[in-house]
Amino acid sequence: MRIAILASGNGSNFEVIAQAVKEKKIAAEIVLLFSDHHDAYVLERGKKFKIACESFELKEFPGKKQYETALLDLLKQYEVELVVLAGYMRIIGKDLLAAYPNRIINIHPALLPDFPGLHGIKDAYEAGVKETGVTIHYVDSGVDTGPIIAQKAVQIEKTDCLFDLETKIHQVEHQLYPQVLAKIVKNERS
Ligand code: GRF
Repeated sequence: MRIAILASGNGSNFEVIAQAVKEKKIAAEIVLLFSDHHDAYVLERGKKFKIACESFELKEFPGKKQYETALLDLLKQYEVELVVLAGYMRIIGKDLLAAYPNRIINIHPALLPDFPGLHGIKDAYEAGVKETGVTIHYVDSGVDTGPIIAQKAVQIEKTDCLFDLETKIHQVEHQLYPQVLAKIVKNERS
C-alpha cells in the first residue's frame, strides 16, 4: 500500500511510523512526506529515511481551494492510496475527502469526542479529568469527528504537570499509531 504522511511540525509520529515501515512491521511504502511548512522539522526526519519530501504553504496560493487542488495533484502524482495525518494542523477540504473516502487517518491526543481541536492535551489537563488518552480515527469534514478506529486511555495523576502528561500521551501515540496502521494495511490487503 502506497502511503503519504502529512505533517506540519516536529514529526515524532512520522518517525515511529517510518521506522515501523523500515522494519517491515507495516506492509506499506511511504511514498511521500508532505508538509505545509517548508521549515518543519519533520522534513529533516524524512530526508534521514530517504523518503520523498515535498512542501508548500497555503500563503503561496490565492486561497485554500487552490492549495488543496495542488495537494490532491501531488497525492495523485505519487499514486497515494492511504493518507496518514501526523500532526497535520489543517482541516481537510471536501475535494480531498471525496478523493480518499475512508482513506484518510488522523491521530488526536485525547479520548474523542472529548477535547477535540488544537489543544487536546492542555484542554484535558485544565479540565481536571482523571483520564484522557489517544484516539485514531478516520477523517471526515468535521474537526476530529470521524469514525473512531482505536483509543487508548492515559491516567492523569495528581502529581502530573502538563509536561508529564504530554510525555505520557506522546509515548502512547508512538506505540498505538504504528500498531493500528499495521492492522489497517493488513486488513486492506486481505
Ligand atoms: C501529536 O500529539 C498528534 O496527536 C497531534 O499533533 C501532535 C504531533 O506531534 N495531532 P509530532 O509532530 O508527531 O511530534
